[in-house]
Amino acid sequence: MMRIRNSIPPHLPLFFFLLLHLFHPSQAQDQIQPNTTGYQCPANQTGSGYPCRTYAFYQASAPNFLDLASIGDLFSVSRPMIAQPSNISSPNSTLAPNQPLFVPLFCSCNFINSTFGAISYANLSYTIKKGDTFYQVSSFSYRNLTTYQSVEVVNPTLIPTNLTIGVSAVFPVFCKCPNTTQLRNGENILISYVVQPNDNVSSIATMFGSKPQSIIDANRKNFREFDTIFVPVSRLPVLTQLPVNTSAPPASSPAASVTSRDRTGTVRGLAIGLGIVGLLLILVLGLWVYREALFKDKLAVVVGDEEKHKQSFATGTKGSKEAEAKLMANVSDCLDKYRVFGYEELREATNGFDQRCLILGSVYKGTIDGEVYAIKKMKWNAYEELKILQKVNHGNLVKLEGFCIDDDEANCYLVYEYVENGSLYSWLHEDRTERLNWKMRLHVAIDVANGLQYIHEHTRPRVVHKDIKSSNILLDANMRAKIANFGLAKSGMNAITMHIVGTQGYIAPEYLADGVVSTKMDVFSFGVVLLELITGKEAIDDRGNPLWTTVVRAFELGSDQEKNKRLREWLDSSLLRETCSMESLRSVLNVALACLHKDPTKRPSMVDVVYALSKSEDSGFDTSDDTMDSPLVSAR
Ligand SMILES: *[C@@H]1O[C@H](CO)[C@@H](O)[C@H](O)[C@H]1NC(C)=O
Ligand SMILES: *[C@@H]1O[C@H](CO)[C@@H](O)[C@H](O)[C@H]1NC(C)=O
Ligand SMILES: *[C@@H]1O[C@H](CO)[C@@H](O)[C@H](O)[C@H]1NC(C)=O
Ligand SMILES: *[C@@H]1O[C@H](CO)[C@@H](O)[C@H](O)[C@H]1NC(C)=O
Repeated sequence: MMRIRNSIPPHLPLFFFLLLHLFHPSQAQDQIQPNTTGYQCPANQTGSGYPCRTYAFYQASAPNFLDLASIGDLFSVSRPMIAQPSNISSPNSTLAPNQPLFVPLFCSCNFINSTFGAISYANLSYTIKKGDTFYQVSSFSYRNLTTYQSVEVVNPTLIPTNLTIGVSAVFPVFCKCPNTTQLRNGENILISYVVQPNDNVSSIATMFGSKPQSIIDANRKNFREFDTIFVPVSRLPVLTQLPVNTSAPPASSPAASVTSRDRTGTVRGLAIGLGIVGLLLILVLGLWVYREALFKDKLAVVVGDEEKHKQSFATGTKGSKEAEAKLMANVSDCLDKYRVFGYEELREATNGFDQRCLILGSVYKGTIDGEVYAIKKMKWNAYEELKILQKVNHGNLVKLEGFCIDDDEANCYLVYEYVENGSLYSWLHEDRTERLNWKMRLHVAIDVANGLQYIHEHTRPRVVHKDIKSSNILLDANMRAKIANFGLAKSGMNAITMHIVGTQGYIAPEYLADGVVSTKMDVFSFGVVLLELITGKEAIDDRGNPLWTTVVRAFELGSDQEKNKRLREWLDSSLLRETCSMESLRSVLNVALACLHKDPTKRPSMVDVVYALSKSEDSGFDTSDDTMDSPLVSAR
């Protein structure tokens, strides 16, 4: 049975009602068991619609099927016959892994015998090669568009366990032709599609521009992943193909370079920021894949080129169903995790994207059904950020609630939880009548450390945030910290190490020098945030000197006593008015200094950091210190 997504898109309540109805246990006995040997068709072919021309959705795959010639051979069709419906201009081009294709099939209804009746398939002849098994070829070469059981049924003379190399076998690729009812409803093609692990009926419908109910009607009710299903469409959707080996960086790329001068001036404006162009740019997940072994001992960057083959969002094709279908195809694996908002819904929520709802940059505050959200408008491909965010889920990371694709304007909107109390930056460096006390600051530090520990240790592949700084740390109503600004990874980046992103004053030296990306660069930036918490100073001063260089130098030498004295000089003046323990301050400073070690391998991991900070929290407050009824101390 398919998974039902947890957030129901507003336009589909009827569908879900029907779906629940269909899956009601009392009807379970009515369900047909999955038939692995093939799909029945009317044996009497007169007036049945058979045979017909149809299409299979097929994705190119390494190592053997990355060009149209080999895929053409597999399906007994010529290269242009695949190139044309798949919107590929050159039949000679190489394909990217998972590049989507429509492969034409000649679908017929074939009577097998009285046990199996008549089943519909495209009769494809395949020459057995060394090492082939029916299972291997159907599951991987044909990507489950047929099953080994069915191959056995249609090849009664072949012995599956003793296949002779060079012998020809029939591989029955599953297909269906529309019957008269379906044709009357304009369902002219039934695309053969293999259900993928994260699919659900509505995501499949969106992907092909079909209707969930049509899909349900045309198929067995209880299909599962890797089953072939038939998606009724009036005509073949258009696939958007990213030109291979060409990078397509989005026009409004937020790539903040090292030299961007976004420090004080613009940063000041950041109240409740999620994404602000020029400030962010973060992790490029999938571009850095760490081999476990390499990771532990030395830093290594493995640049996956998978990303450069990623499909780009289509632009410009106004209003067409196909455009939406291909946009949605890009994010289809995110559909079941997130609420899909309607464009009108977001427009209403923000008074038509009124300037007064603008939080910062392209982030709007909006209210939908009484819930407040932060809505980030993106011109570029949001697929990367979605892909990262769907992997992460942690209380100390700003949560993505949903998204919206407006194909008229080719915009994408990411909808996040709204974090009430703005950025840590604004609490530390802007004029506020209230200041965070030490206990609060320590909590913030531990929250951020927990969030980072989560992305570093509990995601596969590991996520490196790449832009940890106080303006990317948001405080909620309970003054708990959440890390914001994930994603913005770009497709089409080849020379990743040359493309330095981040914010001056926070960037780890090895990344600046060599472009080495590792979790330890987040550890470094976190060290800078700890310094901000302790000193109340900005990460970079008015003359452009990084805070960390001066602090590290100040605490390099000297006795404990001298260091304590120096710490008092560096301390945020509002903390001086408190009765927080020197021991706690010193231990947090020591954590910061360890994080700022020039040699990334000598920096602690976030696991160590969380541990050390939690200990300084335990030691930091004697119970007599109960003056902190309010978490805030007055600044004046
Ligand atoms: C085909 O289905 C099997 C499970 O039946 C699965 O393990 C395999 O990964 C699928 N093949 C592809 C290419 O998805
Ligand atoms: C396998 O097939 C070959 C040729 O068809 C035959 O000579 C051989 O005896 C068969 N082996 C087994 C174990 O059936
Ligand atoms: C055509 O197929 C649909 C879906 O499988 C079915 O509901 C309908 O009854 C069929 N119509 C005819 C005329 O067989
Ligand atoms: C075909 O793909 C290209 C990208 O390779 C895209 O720009 C174009 O819009 C697509 N064709 C149609 C008809 O959409």
